[in-house]
Amino acid sequence: MVINTNNLLKEFNENGYVIVRNCISPENLDACKVSIVKALKKVYEGDGGYEEIISDLNRYDKDSLYRFHRNTNELSCWTLIAAELHPVLESLGGQEAIPKLFLSGYLLGLARDKRLTYNFHQESSYMRIKDEMITAHFPLFYPSTRENGTMSVLKGSHIQGQLDFEKKRKSLNSYTDLIPVDISSLVEKYEEVYFDLQPGDCAFFSKYLIHRSNYNSSKYSRPVGVFRYFMNNEDNFEELTPGAL
Ligand SMILES: [Fe+2]
Repeated sequence: MVINTNNLLKEFNENGYVIVRNCISPENLDACKVSIVKALKKVYEGDGGYEEIISDLNRYDKDSLYRFHRNTNELSCWTLIAAELHPVLESLGGQEAIPKLFLSGYLLGLARDKRLTYNFHQESSYMRIKDEMITAHFPLFYPSTRENGTMSVLKGSHIQGQLDFEKKRKSLNSYTDLIPVDISSLVEKYEEVYFDLQPGDCAFFSKYLIHRSNYNSSKYSRPVGVFRYFMNNEDNFEELTPGAL
């Protein structure tokens, strides 16, 4: 697929994100789905489709769900999609950048489960690195919509740079939220934009952009692929455990 990369950088710099439509082919999304379902069936004895197995494991066997999920980061099928996204990263990085993919994987987006949603945060609070880090975020199986808890961003909030944050955790099984201090003023200041994404579309956003995931009130999960890129070739970052953040 040929992507028109004109103006991507300008839009990215203005808003802190850019959405590129139809940049991932259905064949490569299918290849990822096949690998994911195969990996899922390795940890599950019974029959059933993706949704049934995920919800069953979430209810009765969270350890297996966690193990399966952790192991999906290294699936080689991600490289098919990474190849399609590469031209976008090149144009977002500008002349000097050497984009480096350092993490691939996906988020489960469980239906009707508050435990695994993220409140407002910046990626830069979780990963302290010197240079820009761009996250690519794309729906895997179904469209991402308001109903199924698509991510939303505070448009233009990346110009704030690194913000101080408060640490919150709903329970020991939840993600650790690092919520920017005085988030209510920031929510008033910047427009909240909900990403409406079809399979094939991909959103790219800056490490400083304030964003969150939302409650999935639909019957189905909302699996999304997430790739992270350093925009230069260094790897001197510090990843901290939730307790040390
Ligand atoms: Fe995030």
